[in-house]
Amino acid sequence: MPLETEARAQIRALVAEFRPEHGDLLAAMHKVQHHLGYLSREAMEVIADQLNLFAAEVYGAASFYEEFRFAPPAQTNIRWCSGPACRLKNGGGIRDALLATLGVSEIPADTEDGRVGVILGQCNGTCEIAPMVWLEQHSTHRIEPVGSLNAARAIRMARALRDGSTVEASIEEARRA
Ligand code: FES
Repeated sequence: MPLETEARAQIRALVAEFRPEHGDLLAAMHKVQHHLGYLSREAMEVIADQLNLFAAEVYGAASFYEEFRFAPPAQTNIRWCSGPACRLKNGGGIRDALLATLGVSEIPADTEDGRVGVILGQCNGTCEIAPMVWLEQHSTHRIEPVGSLNAARAIRMARALRDGSTVEASIEEARRA
C-alpha cells in the first residue's frame, strides 16, 4: 500500500467515530491533531469526507482557533511560561536567551531543521519553580517541566536540544549549576 494511502487510512480510522450533523468537527480536529501533531491538508480532506463537509469548511473552522497548526510540529518544543511569577524572575531574559540560541526571532518559531520549536505557555500553578519552561517531545507526547532557570541554564539546554541531544541530556544541562 503506498505511504500516502496508509496515512489517509490512519486518519480515516481516527475519525471513524465522528458523524455528520452531530457537531463533531471540533472533536475530530482535536483528535487528529493530538495524534499527528498538526492538521495536514490530507487530514482536513478526510475529516471533511467523514462529516460531509468541504475541506475548505474544515480549514475555515480550524483557522479560527489558535491551537490548530497546519505544519508538522518541531521534534521538541520548548514551551516558555509567560505567566507573572516567571516574568518577575527574568522570564523575559530567558525567552530572549532561548530565541537567540536557537536562531529564531519570535514565539512561535521552529529551527530551520525542525528539531526545536519555541511556543508560548501559560502559568499552570507551578510557580514555586519559576522561571520555567516545559519540554514537549512530539514523538512520545512526553512533557517535562524544567524550572529554576536562569539565562545561562536556558542557553545550555537550548544549545543541547539544537545540537541533537536527548531531552534527558538537555535537562541535565539545565540543571548544572
Ligand atoms: S507564572 Fe510560570 S508557572 Fe506560574
